[in-house]
Amino acid sequence: MNRSIISGTGRYIPPKIITNFDLEKTMNTSDEWIQQRSGIKERHYAEPGVGSSDLAYESALKAIDDAQIDKSEIDFIIAATLSPDHYFPGIGVLVQAKLELENIGALDVRNQCSGFIYALSVADQYIRNGTYHKILLVAAEKQSANLDYSDDGRDLAVLFGDGAAAVIIEPGNPDEDRGILSTHLFSDGNYVEDLWMQRPSPKDHPVFSVDMVTDKKLFPSMNGRNVFKTAVAKMPEAVRSALEHNNLTIEDVDHLIPHQANERISQMVARNLKIPVEKVIRNIDRYGNTTAASIPIALDEALEQGRIKRGDLVMLTAFGSGYTWASSAIKW
Ligand code: UT7
Repeated sequence: MNRSIISGTGRYIPPKIITNFDLEKTMNTSDEWIQQRSGIKERHYAEPGVGSSDLAYESALKAIDDAQIDKSEIDFIIAATLSPDHYFPGIGVLVQAKLELENIGALDVRNQCSGFIYALSVADQYIRNGTYHKILLVAAEKQSANLDYSDDGRDLAVLFGDGAAAVIIEPGNPDEDRGILSTHLFSDGNYVEDLWMQRPSPKDHPVFSVDMVTDKKLFPSMNGRNVFKTAVAKMPEAVRSALEHNNLTIEDVDHLIPHQANERISQMVARNLKIPVEKVIRNIDRYGNTTAASIPIALDEALEQGRIKRGDLVMLTAFGSGYTWASSAIKW
């Protein structure tokens, strides 16, 4: 069967940099605490008026250019975000309109930190069964507009950043031994409250009310310790599923790209899997956690730096709100 390949990548990071020292001015936190607990030094914030769809659009242009295709060749869009421009519709259609594409389908994926791998898995199925031939997958987040910058929200506010990345997925050449080898997706909705935006909820009738602003339940909230310990267990499990499925060992992996949630999580995942940390691609120090966009941003950067070469085995893994977690093995 013909495998899917990622034929182009691109990222767009909004220019405004927010350092830990900037955050010290709005809440009781410190550069030392943030770096020690998460490895983050700075993150980027989009300006007011710029939405996830705008970040996605900019990254899409770069991926289209990198894949050396004309945008009119794109026959399907998949968009992953937890921070859409509007409650509905999702950003897929906005990207379609901004790119002035034909009336192709646009699917939105709501799987938070695992969103990119979930979306990749959908794209992979469509390409392999011949439904579509050039899929644009965008992952974009504008988190900065919905974080609590008071002391109450400091645990989450210091972690998240804005950014986007896109990839083009198309059928590979059947004569070449490369492409997406597998995707493995998992979830456990029993832990939804560990990382969520609690309101609006079914109890809210009407859906929106003034008290949901005053009680701060419109901000995301997290049980950081639970999320941390589950992430360090589930990402290695997902990677092992991929290795087993493809008859590979961890020694075969050239690059591991974990969702960039926390430098300590990435280090512990590496230790658990017994993969040298040099093989683990990490950039959280400069971007913070960009949720669905974090893996494709790291992938695009690693490609640009020449770290990932043709023939390398690239392993992706993610864990986040839901809980959802996932892995994908890609022969580059
Ligand atoms: O994208 C996927 C989802 N997200 C994650 O994977 C994140 C997972 N969790 C984490 O990365 C970590 O749990 C955090 C970085 C969020 C927190 O690190 P921690 O080592 O688990 O700290 P903690 O939550 O146990 O908090 C330790 C202390 C607390 O004070 P007390 O109760 O010990 O007095 C917090 O109130 O640190 C305090 N704290 C802060 N202090 C300064 C929490 N946030 C901050 C802050 N600045 N921003």
